[in-house]
Amino acid sequence: MNKLPDLFFKRFQSVQVPALGFGTFQLEGETCRNAVGKALSLGYRHVDTARVYGNEDQVGAGLRDSGLNRSDIFVTSKVWLDHLKAPALLKEVMTSLELLQTDYLDLVLIHWPNPDVPFDESFRALEELKTQGVVIQYGVSNFPPSLLSGAINAGEVFCNQVEYHPFLGQDRLLEIARENDIMLTAYSPLAQGGVIGHAELEGIADKHGKSSGQIALRWLIEQDQVVAIPRSSKPEHIEKNFDIFDFALDDEDRAKIAALPKNRRRINPGFAPDWEEE
Ligand SMILES: NC(=O)c1ccc[n+]([C@@H]2O[C@H](COP(=O)([O-])OP(=O)(O)OC[C@H]3O[C@@H](n4cnc5c(N)ncnc54)[C@H](OP(=O)(O)O)[C@@H]3O)[C@@H](O)[C@H]2O)c1
Repeated sequence: MNKLPDLFFKRFQSVQVPALGFGTFQLEGETCRNAVGKALSLGYRHVDTARVYGNEDQVGAGLRDSGLNRSDIFVTSKVWLDHLKAPALLKEVMTSLELLQTDYLDLVLIHWPNPDVPFDESFRALEELKTQGVVIQYGVSNFPPSLLSGAINAGEVFCNQVEYHPFLGQDRLLEIARENDIMLTAYSPLAQGGVIGHAELEGIADKHGKSSGQIALRWLIEQDQVVAIPRSSKPEHIEKNFDIFDFALDDEDRAKIAALPKNRRRINPGFAPDWEEE
């Protein structure tokens, strides 16, 4: 790519982040390494992993295979909810760095809230890592509005990563993100494959010569504060998901997507917070 297209990068709190990242949940072994390598060779510059995915070594191998400078890639990892007290958190982040074989993480997230550990304690540890230069930004994931507001008061939250796609609304979180210049990372942006072949989205896709998945991803990144991190194990899907920078949705398309049911949450484990809590 010679000239970067509009929306390739977005800026939050003066930090530039590639709007389309690559998700790695459930990618393992060589599949993971090759998928990350493929994504980077196609132009992705943002990769999302987590301690609990068990694939940071393979993600790191993919990063190195790319031959890119580390500073050209935005890398996120996450600390699981049973390691949020300061000593455990510090250790977990160090393990991420070792497995990824990198000197720093662009972003570290609290993967899920843990009601037994106050944010302040985790944030103090994250601040320490920031001072050491091994964490550039920190944030949260799966925080509903009330918890996000509390977290913003307790620390320098850069991001909230939550499920977001055409079948799930996140209006209040977006409002808070916009008020505080927080990045909202849309996880499961393809509704874990659910958007593929969806009739209404296919209609919009046909109009633009695109696919329903590309419509969902474009719809997300066109929104203020939003970045998206689709995952795929397949080279052809990885390529297709990245091919969203040469068209734009119009008001009619957005109205059709807005009219779809917005209550189809895919990820809701037993330990999830109360999503509706204002
Ligand atoms: N913070 C959290 O708690 C949390 C939770 C969930 C996810 N995440 C992050 O968000 C990332 C994305 O979410 P996700 O993995 O849940 O789901 P997703 O990206 O919405 O969907 C992935 C699924 O869609 C399929 N797919 C991808 N591109 C496709 C295409 N062009 N055509 C047809 N099928 C396609 C993939 O299968 P193929 O492999 O066959 O392409 C896979 O089954 C994760 O990988 C992870 O990094 C974070």
